[in-house]
Amino acid sequence: SLSLIGSAFAADNNILDKIIERGVIRIGFDTGYQPFEMVNKKGDYIGFDVDLAKQMAKAMGVKVEFVNTAWDGIIPALLTDKFDIIMAGMTVTPQRNLRVNFADPYIVIGQTVVLRKELAGKIKKPRDLNDAKYKLAVKLGTTGHEAAKRYFPKAEIFEFETQDDAKLEVLNGKLDAFVYDLPYNSIFASQNADRVAFLSEPFTYEPLAWAVRRGDEDFINWLNNFLRQVKGDGTYDRLYAKWFES
Ligand code: ARG
Repeated sequence: SLSLIGSAFAADNNILDKIIERGVIRIGFDTGYQPFEMVNKKGDYIGFDVDLAKQMAKAMGVKVEFVNTAWDGIIPALLTDKFDIIMAGMTVTPQRNLRVNFADPYIVIGQTVVLRKELAGKIKKPRDLNDAKYKLAVKLGTTGHEAAKRYFPKAEIFEFETQDDAKLEVLNGKLDAFVYDLPYNSIFASQNADRVAFLSEPFTYEPLAWAVRRGDEDFINWLNNFLRQVKGDGTYDRLYAKWFES
């Protein structure tokens, strides 16, 4: 069979062979991260990552299984084989790249700031938040968390396990600002235009990419060629328009 041929030549850790043998690719993500992965009213997973994962499974000829995991533990979960790949809008950082391999970026974003309404006009640029009087909400272990510590060292930083909890504090005016990824904050701000203000200009450079365990070049090769194909054949553009331009 195909998998026998594959395994005769491949290293023990060849995850592509395992996925084909299993007939399932297991995707790790952390839902609530709009528009990449959310749960709809019916309880189904939806979003840009979800659609790309389904395309990926189709191209491999396997089924797809989603494994929802708290962000803070998502790399350990990958490393302990709870799933095959992280498709979760993960920013490629040099630190993370010491622990996991990344495919080529599938989108580039940056950190942005959503302010409680009363600060509209008072805070004109992100740097204005670097003041001991400001209280910032971040999601634990994200690049937004890192950026807040780095760019606003004087401000007080409050960490939340979920982006929903973080965003709520700014919505109800208890905290001053939420530092998070542009696509998420853009939806958050536009859905609550009467209650928050948005500094939409990103102040960091962040390529997002799919992460896999180290030491498996075959999988990375497959992913990069898959990505090039969907980017070239219109699939990526169609899904991008569906989730980012509606
Ligand atoms: N891009 C940011 C990071 O890598 C946030 C990603 C959060 N993703 C999620 N599925 N909750 O830290």
